[in-house]
Amino acid sequence: MTDDPLILLSHDRSEARRANDPLVDRCVLGTVDRNGHAALRTLVLREIDDRLALFYNRTSTKHVELMDQRHHGSLLIYLPSVGVQYRFESRFEDIPREVIEEHWQLKPDVAKRMDSIYERHPQSTIIDDFAAFETLFAATVPPRKSPRNGCGVYVVVEVAERLELRTDPQMHDRRIYKREGNDWRVHQLVP
Ligand SMILES: Cc1cc2nc3c(=O)[nH]c(=O)nc-3n(C[C@H](O)[C@H](O)[C@H](O)COP(=O)(O)O)c2cc1C
Repeated sequence: MTDDPLILLSHDRSEARRANDPLVDRCVLGTVDRNGHAALRTLVLREIDDRLALFYNRTSTKHVELMDQRHHGSLLIYLPSVGVQYRFESRFEDIPREVIEEHWQLKPDVAKRMDSIYERHPQSTIIDDFAAFETLFAATVPPRKSPRNGCGVYVVVEVAERLELRTDPQMHDRRIYKREGNDWRVHQLVP
Protein backbone atom coordinates (compact mmCIF):
# COMPACT_ATOMS: atom_id res chain seq x y z
CA MET A 1 0.00 0.00 0.00
CA THR A 2 1.32 3.48 -0.91
CA ASP A 3 2.22 5.94 1.85
CA ASP A 4 0.59 8.83 -0.02
CA PRO A 5 -2.96 9.40 1.28
CA LEU A 6 -3.87 11.48 -1.78
CA ILE A 7 -3.09 8.53 -4.09
CA LEU A 8 -5.12 6.30 -1.77
CA LEU A 9 -8.03 8.77 -1.92
CA SER A 10 -7.84 8.86 -5.69
CA HIS A 11 -8.02 5.02 -5.83
CA ASP A 12 -10.86 4.92 -3.31
CA ARG A 13 -12.82 7.56 -5.21
CA SER A 14 -12.33 5.66 -8.51
CA GLU A 15 -13.69 2.52 -6.90
CA ALA A 16 -16.57 4.46 -5.31
CA ARG A 17 -17.37 6.05 -8.68
CA ARG A 18 -17.61 2.60 -10.26
CA ALA A 19 -20.03 1.65 -7.45
CA ASN A 20 -22.14 4.80 -8.11
CA ASP A 21 -21.45 6.04 -4.60
CA PRO A 22 -23.67 9.13 -4.03
CA LEU A 23 -20.97 10.67 -1.81
CA VAL A 24 -18.09 10.15 -4.24
CA ASP A 25 -17.59 13.86 -4.92
CA ARG A 26 -18.82 15.24 -1.61
CA CYS A 27 -16.98 16.32 1.52
CA VAL A 28 -17.76 18.13 4.76
CA LEU A 29 -15.74 21.27 5.49
CA GLY A 30 -15.25 22.09 9.16
CA THR A 31 -14.33 25.54 10.43
CA VAL A 32 -14.74 27.37 13.73
CA ASP A 33 -17.30 30.18 13.84
CA ARG A 34 -16.80 33.54 15.53
CA ASN A 35 -18.37 32.18 18.75
CA GLY A 36 -15.82 29.36 18.84
CA HIS A 37 -18.35 26.73 17.76
CA ALA A 38 -17.74 24.05 15.13
CA ALA A 39 -19.31 24.92 11.76
CA LEU A 40 -19.86 22.16 9.19
CA ARG A 41 -21.24 22.11 5.66
CA THR A 42 -21.33 19.73 2.70
CA LEU A 43 -19.40 20.83 -0.39
CA VAL A 44 -18.54 19.31 -3.74
CA LEU A 45 -14.95 18.07 -3.66
CA ARG A 46 -13.55 18.64 -7.15
CA GLU A 47 -10.34 17.61 -8.84
CA ILE A 48 -8.61 20.25 -10.94
CA ASP A 49 -5.30 19.35 -12.59
CA ASP A 50 -4.83 16.51 -10.10
CA ARG A 51 -5.43 18.83 -7.13
CA LEU A 52 -8.39 18.72 -4.77
CA ALA A 53 -10.46 21.89 -4.94
CA LEU A 54 -13.54 23.55 -3.42
CA PHE A 55 -15.71 26.21 -5.04
CA TYR A 56 -17.87 28.66 -3.10
CA ASN A 57 -18.91 32.28 -2.84
CA ARG A 58 -16.81 34.93 -1.17
CA THR A 59 -19.89 36.41 0.56
CA SER A 60 -20.37 33.16 2.49
CA THR A 61 -19.80 32.47 6.15
CA LYS A 62 -17.32 29.73 5.32
CA HIS A 63 -15.14 32.22 3.43
CA VAL A 64 -15.08 34.59 6.42
CA GLU A 65 -14.23 31.69 8.74
CA LEU A 66 -11.46 30.42 6.47
CA MET A 67 -10.00 33.94 6.35
CA ASP A 68 -10.19 34.13 10.16
CA GLN A 69 -8.37 30.80 10.35
CA ARG A 70 -5.70 31.91 7.89
CA HIS A 71 -6.98 29.49 5.28
CA HIS A 72 -6.88 26.42 7.53
CA GLY A 73 -9.74 23.99 8.14
CA SER A 74 -10.80 20.35 8.32
CA LEU A 75 -12.32 18.10 5.68
CA LEU A 76 -14.24 14.89 6.16
CA ILE A 77 -14.85 12.45 3.32
CA TYR A 78 -16.85 9.27 3.77
CA LEU A 79 -17.31 6.81 0.92
CA PRO A 80 -19.92 4.29 2.10
CA SER A 81 -19.62 2.07 -0.99
CA VAL A 82 -16.01 1.25 -0.14
CA GLY A 83 -16.29 1.72 3.65
CA VAL A 84 -13.55 4.32 3.89
CA GLN A 85 -13.37 7.59 5.81
CA TYR A 86 -10.75 10.34 5.43
CA ARG A 87 -10.17 13.22 7.82
CA PHE A 88 -7.88 15.98 6.62
CA GLU A 89 -6.25 18.92 8.36
CA SER A 90 -5.69 21.24 5.46
CA ARG A 91 -4.39 24.53 4.28
CA PHE A 92 -6.24 26.21 1.42
CA GLU A 93 -4.71 28.12 -1.48
CA ASP A 94 -6.65 30.54 -3.68
CA ILE A 95 -7.33 29.20 -7.16
CA PRO A 96 -6.21 31.70 -9.85
CA ARG A 97 -8.98 33.80 -11.39
CA GLU A 98 -8.65 32.33 -14.90
CA VAL A 99 -9.08 28.77 -13.56
CA ILE A 100 -12.15 29.84 -11.54
CA GLU A 101 -13.61 31.45 -14.65
CA GLU A 102 -13.10 28.33 -16.77
CA HIS A 103 -14.79 26.05 -14.22
CA TRP A 104 -17.50 28.56 -13.33
CA GLN A 105 -18.74 28.29 -16.92
CA LEU A 106 -19.69 24.64 -16.20
CA LYS A 107 -21.99 25.59 -13.31
CA PRO A 108 -25.75 25.07 -13.78
CA ASP A 109 -27.78 28.22 -14.43
CA VAL A 110 -29.32 28.15 -10.93
CA ALA A 111 -25.86 28.44 -9.37
CA LYS A 112 -24.82 31.16 -11.85
CA ARG A 113 -27.91 33.20 -11.03
CA MET A 114 -27.27 32.79 -7.30
CA ASP A 115 -23.67 34.00 -7.72
CA SER A 116 -25.10 37.10 -9.35
CA ILE A 117 -27.67 37.60 -6.58
CA TYR A 118 -25.04 37.15 -3.83
CA GLU A 119 -23.44 40.41 -5.02
CA ARG A 120 -26.30 42.28 -3.33
CA HIS A 121 -27.63 39.58 -0.98
CA PRO A 122 -24.73 37.77 0.70
CA GLN A 123 -25.13 34.01 1.05
CA SER A 124 -26.65 32.73 4.33
CA THR A 125 -28.18 36.10 5.26
CA ILE A 126 -31.87 36.16 6.24
CA ILE A 127 -34.51 36.80 3.55
CA ASP A 128 -37.23 39.16 4.88
CA ASP A 129 -39.60 38.90 1.92
CA PHE A 130 -39.38 35.49 0.28
CA ALA A 131 -41.91 36.24 -2.49
CA ALA A 132 -39.90 39.29 -3.56
CA PHE A 133 -36.73 37.20 -3.47
CA GLU A 134 -38.29 34.57 -5.73
CA THR A 135 -39.29 37.32 -8.17
CA LEU A 136 -35.71 38.59 -8.10
CA PHE A 137 -34.44 35.06 -8.78
CA ALA A 138 -36.83 34.59 -11.71
CA ALA A 139 -35.78 37.94 -13.19
CA THR A 140 -32.03 37.32 -12.83
CA VAL A 141 -30.29 36.37 -16.04
CA PRO A 142 -27.31 34.06 -15.51
CA PRO A 143 -24.22 36.26 -16.04
CA ARG A 144 -21.84 35.29 -18.84
CA LYS A 145 -18.76 35.60 -16.61
CA SER A 146 -18.21 34.74 -12.97
CA PRO A 147 -19.00 37.64 -10.63
CA ARG A 148 -15.96 38.68 -8.56
CA ASN A 149 -17.39 36.85 -5.57
CA GLY A 150 -17.18 33.43 -7.21
CA CYS A 151 -14.04 31.87 -5.78
CA GLY A 152 -12.36 28.62 -4.92
CA VAL A 153 -9.43 27.07 -3.13
CA TYR A 154 -7.05 24.19 -3.64
CA VAL A 155 -6.90 21.81 -0.69
CA VAL A 156 -3.34 21.31 0.58
CA VAL A 157 -3.54 18.39 2.97
CA GLU A 158 -1.11 18.58 5.89
CA VAL A 159 -2.35 15.69 8.03
CA ALA A 160 -4.57 12.88 6.75
CA GLU A 161 -6.24 10.08 8.59
CA ARG A 162 -7.68 7.11 6.69
CA LEU A 163 -10.03 4.60 8.32
CA GLU A 164 -10.91 1.48 6.37
CA LEU A 165 -13.84 -0.42 7.80
CA ARG A 166 -13.28 -4.16 7.94
CA THR A 167 -15.44 -6.99 9.17
CA ASP A 168 -14.77 -9.59 11.83
CA PRO A 169 -12.34 -11.20 12.43
CA GLN A 170 -10.28 -8.30 11.06
CA MET A 171 -9.82 -5.02 12.93
CA HIS A 172 -10.60 -1.79 11.14
CA ASP A 173 -7.45 -0.32 9.59
CA ARG A 174 -6.69 3.22 10.72
CA ARG A 175 -3.58 5.21 9.78
CA ILE A 176 -2.39 8.78 10.15
CA TYR A 177 -0.21 10.44 7.51
CA LYS A 178 1.79 13.56 8.30
CA ARG A 179 3.30 15.56 5.49
CA GLU A 180 7.09 15.93 5.68
CA GLY A 181 8.23 17.98 2.68
CA ASN A 182 7.41 15.83 -0.35
CA ASP A 183 6.97 12.68 1.75
CA TRP A 184 4.50 11.38 4.27
CA ARG A 185 5.25 9.86 7.66
CA VAL A 186 2.70 7.19 8.43
CA HIS A 187 1.62 5.69 11.78
CA GLN A 188 -0.90 2.98 12.50
CA LEU A 189 -3.58 4.08 14.98
CA VAL A 190 -5.61 2.11 17.48
CA PRO A 191 -8.86 1.87 15.52
C1 LIG B 1 -24.63 17.86 -1.73
C2 LIG B 1 -24.31 19.30 -1.46
C3 LIG B 1 -23.27 19.90 -2.16
C4 LIG B 1 -22.96 21.25 -1.91
N1 LIG B 1 -21.92 21.81 -2.59
C5 LIG B 1 -21.58 23.11 -2.34
C6 LIG B 1 -20.45 23.68 -2.99
O1 LIG B 1 -19.71 23.05 -3.76
N2 LIG B 1 -20.16 24.98 -2.70
C7 LIG B 1 -20.92 25.71 -1.83
O2 LIG B 1 -20.60 26.88 -1.62
N3 LIG B 1 -21.99 25.18 -1.18
C8 LIG B 1 -22.33 23.89 -1.42
N4 LIG B 1 -23.40 23.33 -0.77
C9 LIG B 1 -24.17 24.17 0.20
C10 LIG B 1 -23.41 24.23 1.54
O3 LIG B 1 -23.54 23.00 2.24
C11 LIG B 1 -23.89 25.37 2.45
O4 LIG B 1 -25.26 25.24 2.72
C12 LIG B 1 -23.65 26.76 1.83
O5 LIG B 1 -22.43 26.79 1.09
C13 LIG B 1 -23.61 27.85 2.91
O6 LIG B 1 -22.60 27.53 3.84
P1 LIG B 1 -21.99 28.58 4.89
O7 LIG B 1 -23.13 29.42 5.40
O8 LIG B 1 -21.39 27.73 5.96
O9 LIG B 1 -20.94 29.40 4.16
C14 LIG B 1 -23.72 21.98 -0.98
C15 LIG B 1 -24.72 21.35 -0.26
C16 LIG B 1 -25.02 20.03 -0.50
C17 LIG B 1 -26.12 19.38 0.31
